[in-house]
Amino acid sequence: MAQTQRKILVTSALPYANGPIHLGHMLEHIQTDIWVRFQKLRGHLCSAVCADDAHGTAIMIKADQQGITSEELIDGVRKAHMADFNDFLIGYDNYHSTHSEENREISNHIYKLLRDNDKIAVRSIVQAYDPEKEMFLADRFIKGTCPKCKAEDQYGDNCEVCAATYTPMEMIDPRSVYSGATPVEKESEHYFFKLPDFQDFLAKWTRSGTLQDQVANKLAEWLESGLKEWDISRDAPYFGFEIPDAPGKYFYVWLDAPIGYMASFKNLCDRTEGLNFDDYWAKDSDAELYHFIGKDIINFHALFWPAMLECAGYRTPTGVNAHGYVTVDGTKMSKSRGTFIMARTYLNHLDPQYLRYYFAAKLNSSVDDIDLNLQDFVQRVNSDVVGKVVNIASRTASFINKKFDGQLASEVTEAEMIQSFIDAGDLIAEHFEAREYGKAVREIMRLADVANTYIADKAPWVLAKNEETLPQVQEVCTVALNLFSILATYLKPILPNMVADAETFLGKTLTWENRSELLFGGKVNTFKALMGRIDQKQIDAMIEEGKEAAAEAAKANEPAAVVAEETELTKEPLEAEINFDDFAKVDLRIALIAQAEHVEKANKLLKLTLDLGGETRTVFSGIKSAYKPEDLVGKLTVMVANLAPRKMKFGLSEGMVLAAGPGKDEIYLLEPHAGAKPGQRVM
Ligand code: MSP
Ligand code: ZN
Repeated sequence: MAQTQRKILVTSALPYANGPIHLGHMLEHIQTDIWVRFQKLRGHLCSAVCADDAHGTAIMIKADQQGITSEELIDGVRKAHMADFNDFLIGYDNYHSTHSEENREISNHIYKLLRDNDKIAVRSIVQAYDPEKEMFLADRFIKGTCPKCKAEDQYGDNCEVCAATYTPMEMIDPRSVYSGATPVEKESEHYFFKLPDFQDFLAKWTRSGTLQDQVANKLAEWLESGLKEWDISRDAPYFGFEIPDAPGKYFYVWLDAPIGYMASFKNLCDRTEGLNFDDYWAKDSDAELYHFIGKDIINFHALFWPAMLECAGYRTPTGVNAHGYVTVDGTKMSKSRGTFIMARTYLNHLDPQYLRYYFAAKLNSSVDDIDLNLQDFVQRVNSDVVGKVVNIASRTASFINKKFDGQLASEVTEAEMIQSFIDAGDLIAEHFEAREYGKAVREIMRLADVANTYIADKAPWVLAKNEETLPQVQEVCTVALNLFSILATYLKPILPNMVADAETFLGKTLTWENRSELLFGGKVNTFKALMGRIDQKQIDAMIEEGKEAAAEAAKANEPAAVVAEETELTKEPLEAEINFDDFAKVDLRIALIAQAEHVEKANKLLKLTLDLGGETRTVFSGIKSAYKPEDLVGKLTVMVANLAPRKMKFGLSEGMVLAAGPGKDEIYLLEPHAGAKPGQRVM
C-alpha cells in the first residue's frame, strides 16, 4: 500500500423500528454505503454499523394496537429493515438493535459517569396525563381545538392553521390520541442532563471542522441563545431501559439511541478478530469516526451527543455529515400521489443500482434537499449507466469473445489515453472522500465519453469485416476493455453488482490501487449483459403500487401519532441556505405600473402592465382584494423580471410583483424610496 491504512468507523442514523424503510431513508444509507465501499476499495480498515432504534412510546403503542409485545414488533421490523438494506446492496458490517444487552450496559455506564460528574439534575415537572391509559402524554400525542383560531384537530403544542403555540391544557377540548380521554395535569420527577455546562466546550467543538459550515452557523445561533437542560427521563409505562438508580424511570429514547452506535460496534468487535472497541472509542483513539445523518437530527448529534461523550471520557466524532431531504418530482414525498415510496415497493420493480447511481449523481457535501425527478431518473440512468458505461464493454467484449476466443491483444496501445484514465482516479478519489459524489460521477462520465468516442472513431465493427484489419479489432477492443475496467473500478462503490459481474468477465478483482495494472495477453470470460435500461412502465407500476399501499394504510386508519416518535427538541429541519450566486440569479427590477385593470371572471387577479424603462411586461397578480386598479397606476414597485413566463387561464404572466402581508385584504406592494427609476436593478 502506498498510503497508510486508516481505521475508520462509520454509522448511519438508526431507523425507528415502528415503520418500513422508504426512499428518504435510502438516500442516507446509499450515501453512507458508497463512502464505506470507497474506503474499503482504497484498502482502508473501515467498519460500517447501524441498528434499529427500538425504544420509545410510539413503538410501545403500535405493538399494543397490533396485540403483540414490543419485542415481537421490533424483531419483525428489524428483519424487514435488514432485508431492505441487503437488497439495496447496503453492506453494513453489523446491523444491531438499541434494545440489546450491549446497549443497556453502555447506556448505564455512560449515565453513571454523567451522574457522578454532577451533570444530572432531578426535579419535578407537570405534564399532561392520560388517566385511562395511565400514562404521561407528550404534546404530539394530544389533539384538540386551537384556543386562538378555533381550528379543530390540532396537535398539543402548536396550531398548523394559525401557528399559535400553547400548552396542551390551554387547548379547547384536548384529547389523548390513544384513548380519547381528556388529559389531566400531573406532577412527576424527571432527570435532566446539564447541557448548559457544556456551552464553552460545544462552542469550540462545533467550530473544530467536524461540521459543515452551514450546520455550524445554524448551531451558533442556538448556542448564542443559550442551551437548556435536556430532559432524559420518561415515566413508566415506557419501552426502553430503566434508569439504574431510579425505579419506574426510563431513559428517553434519544439518550440511548446514539449510544446504539457504540453498542452495534461492540457487538461486532466481540465476534471479529482484531477489532478492538477501545481502539475506536477511547479518548486518545487514532481511529476516525463519522456519523451520516439527516438535517432534522443535527442537534442530537452535534450538541447532546458530543457533550455526553466528552463528559463520559470518550472520544468525539471526527465528522457529523448531514444530508438533505428527498423530494420526489420537486415536492415532499406524498402518500396520496404514490411518491412516498417504500424501499420494498421500489425493489419490486427496479434494480437498486439505478437509484444508487441517481442519488450518487445528485449528492454533494451540503445539506440541500435531493430531488428524485422520475423522468430525469429514467433518462439519466439509461443514458449514463447503460448508454455510456455498459456500452463500452458490450460494444467490444463480443468481438474478443467471438473472434478471438476471449484472448486479449498481447500489448495495450493508446498508453497516453489509458494513463489519463488512471490519473483521473486521484481527483475522483478526492471527490468521493469529500462526499462530492456528483462531481465524481461527472468526471467518470466525461471519461466514458472519451472511451466511446475512441471506439466510434476506430469502429471495430467495420474493421471486423476485413481479414486484414482483424488484428486491429483485437487491439482496439483490448484498449476499450482496459478503459472500461478502470471506469468500473471508479464505479464499484456505486454499482457493486454491475462491477462484480464485470470482474467475473474480466477475471480481475478491481481495487483502487490495481487500476494501473492493465489487462493484456490473457483471456477474458464470456460476457453477460451487465445492466439493462429502465422502462417507463416499471416506474408507472411502482407509483401505482405506492398509491394502493397508501390507500390501504388509510383504510386501516393508522393514528398519525403512531407514525412519528416524539422528539422533544423539535426535529426542525435546517432550511437550505442560498449563497450569493443563487440570490444574484434573481433579476429584481424597479417597475412602473403603467396600467392596471380588472380581469373578467377572475376573483383575485389584477392585470398589470409594467414599464421597465422602455420594455413593458404583463403580469397577473393576486392583489385584487387589497387594491383598486386606479390607485395603482403611476406607482413604482419591485418585480422579478427573469421569472419564466407562466401561462394562466387569462393570459401569459411575464414575471411577478413583490408584496408583503398575510393576504386577503392585507397585501402591501413594495415601493422604492423616491428617486428610483423604472428598469433599475434591485440588489
Ligand atoms: N431514530 C432516529 C435516529 C436516531 S440516530 C441515533 C430517527 N429515525 S428516522 O427513522 O426518523 O430517520 C432516520 C434517518 O432517515 C434520519 O437521518 C433522517 O434524517 C432520515 N430521513 C428520514 N426521512 C427522510 C427523507 N425524506 N429524506 C432524507 N432523509 C430522511 O430520526
Ligand atoms: Zn390556530
